[in-house]
Amino acid sequence: MNRLSLILVLLFLISCAKKENIPFNKFEKGMIKFEYPSDWKLTEKQGIDSYFAYLSKDDDTIFITYGMYNPKTYKNPIKNNLFKQITIDGREAVIETSQNIYGGFASIYIPKADSSEGVYIFNKKANSPEVLDIYRTIKLGKSIRKVPLKLNFNEFTNKNSPPGIVLYENNCLGCHSEFRYEIGPSLDQKFIQSKGKSWLESYMYSKKQPVEYDIECSQIQKKDSSSVNEILKYLFQK
Ligand code: HEC
Repeated sequence: MNRLSLILVLLFLISCAKKENIPFNKFEKGMIKFEYPSDWKLTEKQGIDSYFAYLSKDDDTIFITYGMYNPKTYKNPIKNNLFKQITIDGREAVIETSQNIYGGFASIYIPKADSSEGVYIFNKKANSPEVLDIYRTIKLGKSIRKVPLKLNFNEFTNKNSPPGIVLYENNCLGCHSEFRYEIGPSLDQKFIQSKGKSWLESYMYSKKQPVEYDIECSQIQKKDSSSVNEILKYLFQK
């Protein structure tokens, strides 16, 4: 066999091998882009101020909610899962998985995919490695990132020391919103930035007096300074 025909045979074999691989589809909505194997079926629903879609394959489902206001908030009690805060194309996100990363729950939450919209993507109960591979392809906006997201499971923490987003939502967003006045005033980025990091730090430790409805803003104890530091790190990231 001469060299040319050898190359042709090799090329033929490579193209056969490729056909066995499932091709990928591209998901794109607003700021969010990701890729998923085409044996997952996409169903989309457009609401008034939010978008909802799901991908399904066999018994597995991945839900995508995207829209105004935080599509997820970490309420009490925080689930006994594993957490890691990562940056995706300049935006903070939390990956949350069940303790069993080989078969269970896996989610990705980006409170601000842009200035006012958040995205929450989570699966029901599935083959997490495949789901996580889909999450690794997530890109925001005009990102030209070529490499998949790095998810180093050694760096995940449990509910006893969750990352800043989770602590902030869990401790603060019960009464505050980032978008409107609720029980307390709106904690939008402009307000937070104008007050500054050290002001907010001492504010969180201080004892407050109830102003309206006998509800006072929470006070964090000095011994929980790691929580305060994580919250500040999250709020003053940019
Ligand atoms: C139980 C409800 C509640 C929780 C939880 C809560 N707050 Fe408040 N917060 C309030 C209320 C009510 C006010 C307005 C009255 C006041 O100033 O004390 C307020 C006011 C504030 C203000 C404005 C202060 C000013 O001088 O303008 C900031 C900043 C704030 N909260 C931050 C936080 C942070 C950060 C957390 C989480 C660590 C948090 N709050 C948790 C109820 C809450």
